[in-house]
Amino acid sequence: MIEGVLKLVGNTPLVELRKAMDVRFHLCAKLEGANPGGSTKDRPALEIIRQGLATGKIRKDTVIVEASSGNMGVALAQICAYMNLSFICITDKKATPQHISLLRAYGAQVEIISEPDPETGDLLVTRINRARAIVESLGNAFWVNQYANLINAHAHHRTMEEIVTALNGEIDYFVCCASSCGTVRGCAEYVHSQNLRTKICAVDAPGSVIFGGSRGKRLITGHGAGIRPGLYRDGLADRVITVTDMECVVGCRTLLSREALLVGGSSGAAFMGARHLRDEIPDGANCVVLFPDRGERYLNTIFCDAWVREQFNQSMDECYQSLAPSLPPAIAFPHSIGR
Ligand SMILES: Cc1ncc(COP(=O)(O)O)c(C=O)c1O
Repeated sequence: MIEGVLKLVGNTPLVELRKAMDVRFHLCAKLEGANPGGSTKDRPALEIIRQGLATGKIRKDTVIVEASSGNMGVALAQICAYMNLSFICITDKKATPQHISLLRAYGAQVEIISEPDPETGDLLVTRINRARAIVESLGNAFWVNQYANLINAHAHHRTMEEIVTALNGEIDYFVCCASSCGTVRGCAEYVHSQNLRTKICAVDAPGSVIFGGSRGKRLITGHGAGIRPGLYRDGLADRVITVTDMECVVGCRTLLSREALLVGGSSGAAFMGARHLRDEIPDGANCVVLFPDRGERYLNTIFCDAWVREQFNQSMDECYQSLAPSLPPAIAFPHSIGR
């Protein structure tokens, strides 16, 4: 039974974005950072554990195992802490210190992978292989396997249902990032099951292989993946928009300075994804962007000017300037942030 803090998962707010972009359609953001574990991953994590318990695949001595770059791990760590289950999280050196501290605070056993898979050069592949190996060696373990677990996608039917209810079914465009593809697949399935007119727009990163392309360096958590997830299928989205790491940072900084919203990099990606569509979205249409988490977990990265300089070899102002020709007038040079 779902009780206590876990009852707070879902029913996240929608906020209208009036200042960050100069457009004639209605732009709203679904703030998934309002979930108790701080991200949209609370939804699939809770549903997977709940169904595991209901079907007997998880018992009180079962060890929960998952490979996560951060948010899925934190969501599971909180749920396992509440339910007195042991949890091993395989993460990697790209995880933020905040994610690792949160995992440990909730009592998770954390293993940090530092070597990419020799064949693919990808850390995610090593993480997944390690999770599989731990599950096999323990015997009494349950692998969440968010990249291939259909419950991950199914949990997001409710995400879209909440949006549809809030907007009385009047949703023209939905824009979200893809990593495991749980969000985009679940939201798309709900839209199709209800015969809604909503166009599903997935945002991917250069260097991600989800929708094609070749593997390359990516900086933003939750934005793209170095493998094509088991949850992927052709035709998942009506539109796929590619948003660069620098655009994500500029998007986050713009949301902070214009809307006073401190959100994570994949939220900046979704916002910039909607910006790419701004000439296509008709006046008066409703467009919803999904903001998967809050920005506190990225204070040392996206919201740190010194980190921006290290990554892009440019100051924050120079990043704005290099993107300025493609930015609408409302996006211009928000303030800098010191270390
Ligand atoms: C911050 C963040 N944004 C976006 C996503 C992508 O969501 P999904 O895995 O459902 O595709 C994730 C997933 O890990 C995430 O942590």
